[in-house]
Amino acid sequence: MSKASQTAEMVAAIRATFHHGPEAMLFDDWLAKYMLGPKFRFFCAVPLLRRRFMLQGLFRNLNSSLTVLSRARFTEDRLETAIAEGIGQYVILGAGFDTFALRATSTFPDIDVYEVDTEASQRVKKLRVNASGLEQNPNVIYVPVDFMKETVADKLLTAGFDASKPAFISWLGVTLYLTEEAVAETIESLGSICVPGSKLVTDFMDARLHDPEFVEGEPEIAQSMKRLKAYTASKGEPILSGFTAEKITKMASPFGWRFKETQTSRQHAEKFLQGEPDHCWPTDYDHLLMLEKPKDDETGI
Ligand SMILES: C[S@@+](CC[C@H](N)C(=O)[O-])C[C@H]1O[C@@H](n2cnc3c(N)ncnc32)[C@H](O)[C@@H]1O
Repeated sequence: MSKASQTAEMVAAIRATFHHGPEAMLFDDWLAKYMLGPKFRFFCAVPLLRRRFMLQGLFRNLNSSLTVLSRARFTEDRLETAIAEGIGQYVILGAGFDTFALRATSTFPDIDVYEVDTEASQRVKKLRVNASGLEQNPNVIYVPVDFMKETVADKLLTAGFDASKPAFISWLGVTLYLTEEAVAETIESLGSICVPGSKLVTDFMDARLHDPEFVEGEPEIAQSMKRLKAYTASKGEPILSGFTAEKITKMASPFGWRFKETQTSRQHAEKFLQGEPDHCWPTDYDHLLMLEKPKDDETGI
């Protein structure tokens, strides 16, 4: 990808929009607005435009926008537990406009945050972080990597990642844009630098959505997939892969990773939100998965 990611901007706009609604009970990203370009920033700031262009426009068209909040909550709850247990390195793969590092300046000032993304996406993010006027986090390290062409381990080590200490790794909203080979290679590469005690949280698109026979039997899902695929392809970020929890666990297990938990984004969101936000619920085809490298080995899934 030679251009900055537009899907990253889109998910930041989702977080900025839901900051104003009841959905913030699931995850409240009060800094997301600083990550937006002028168009989305305008739409998200004005209530009428927020409703018309975001909630009733983009979100209705793409569906399942709450998955963005659900995966962030799932991850940051588990990250907090890991930090309480002593983990001091957080690696965000495909960080996009994730604002954890900015929010962490007061809550977790001692955590090293490695933001991994394409050079093009990071260039725009740095500009927006600098222009935000927010307190900068001195512990953020930007690590430019293209998962389709490069291995992440060498880049992290060069950037200062401590391979003798456990790390928490998140990989949200990214695997679907990569080939299966790139996902497998990244998992392998991470395996070589993550010691026991490390955790990996990711989300993934259900493999069945790439099976034409399955999709044909689910007309509503077929429509929604068609719109999502067309939208991301039009942004130069085509959807390339889908998985199962078993498949990712199997890919990761030779490198010491073991299954910890999985649930759908929808199941997870339902634990936090009462009532029915209109047309935003994740589908049953967005999955969350946590793996860990146990200190004393246990059996996988
Ligand atoms: C949909 S955004 C998700 C951003 C963030 N993780 C979140 O949940 O808000 C996808 C991100 O993955 C990054 N990405 C996509 N393909 C990539 C690749 N081949 N190498 C590195 N980063 C990539 C994009 O630049 C973008 O920031």
